[in-house]
Amino acid sequence: KEQEIAKIYHVNELARDFFHACLTKTNYGKPAREYLANRGIADEIIDFLKLGFAPPSWDKLSATFMEQRGIAPDILLKAGLAAPRNSGDGVYDRFRNRIMFPINDVRGRTIGFGGRVLDNSQPKYLNSPETEIFNKRHVLYGFDIAYQHIRNLRQVVIVEGYMDAITLYTQGIRNVVASLGTAFTPDQARNLIKLNAELLFSYDSDAAGQNATVRALDTVRTLGATIKVITIPDGKDPDEFVRKHGSQSFQGLLESAKPLLDYQLDQALKSDDYSTVQGKIAVVGKLAPILAEADNAVAVNAHITRLSQVLAVDESALRTEITKYIVQTK
Ligand code: CTP
Ligand code: MN
Ligand code: MN
Ligand code: MN
Ligand code: MN
Repeated sequence: KEQEIAKIYHVNELARDFFHACLTKTNYGKPAREYLANRGIADEIIDFLKLGFAPPSWDKLSATFMEQRGIAPDILLKAGLAAPRNSGDGVYDRFRNRIMFPINDVRGRTIGFGGRVLDNSQPKYLNSPETEIFNKRHVLYGFDIAYQHIRNLRQVVIVEGYMDAITLYTQGIRNVVASLGTAFTPDQARNLIKLNAELLFSYDSDAAGQNATVRALDTVRTLGATIKVITIPDGKDPDEFVRKHGSQSFQGLLESAKPLLDYQLDQALKSDDYSTVQGKIAVVGKLAPILAEADNAVAVNAHITRLSQVLAVDESALRTEITKYIVQTK
């Protein structure tokens, strides 16, 4: 078993180097090189992150490259690099005609891949399946290179995508990791909280990203971390924002990140029409449990004052509603 796991690490490393060579050294890698150049990814970054290209072929990796090195198809299946053929024996390459992003563990060992199409076809990204060494609930893209920066700054910027992490990192915001589009998990959170890091969520500002933010906040709010939320203006993700407005502007967003409570307050006020009594009840119904749970009395007090003004409801009525949840939950 231990031997098998060692082999899975080994083939991931071989595949990473194969994809990287396909990107940087072949004729058929040219469209991929052009794609990355168009997205502003410099050659140094391609080398540093060992970005790659999976050729448009069903067997260049498994048959030609791995077979020549004596790697059995069985291990390629276990590493998630190949899939079994539908008819007959043998395997075929999982990743074809895609830009390859190696995903590393915190020690820098490649444990899986994300592969992006070069056009608008679907699925946009294809990722390695779960394997004995690739557990999506634990992995954070970029954690290996961001680790020391997160420790030093005691702060981590959490983004959704590969390109968001890469662009921020190369623009000098090095305390960045990507949660890779999946739901942010308690395991991912704990790996960051261990470093005493404040969590700054900077997801896409589209509906999917905002829904993911709400879910992520729900996951982390009881783990004892300091949490802030960055809202990116004009329908962008961090990659697009920084390319358009520069890293100084993103630093500005970082500095004006909203504390969790403020964000939740603003969200609740956005979602209901609180000019009516029904609307006021709906907003207070959402916020009372959140305020009941918050542990900073000064912050809670300030929010009650603000809510009272915005909703035109007495502070005492708000306190009554909040108290209901304190009684119920504690
Ligand atoms: N993702 C995925 N599978 C998909 C779509 C998305 O795994 N079919 C993950 C990827 O990690 C992706 C992240 O979710 O980076 C965010 O998705 P999205 O915002 O759609 O992609 P971008 O990262 O913005 O991709 P790009 O800028 O390359 O278009
Ligand atoms: Mn998105
Ligand atoms: Mn993007
Ligand atoms: Mn995006
Ligand atoms: Mn506040």
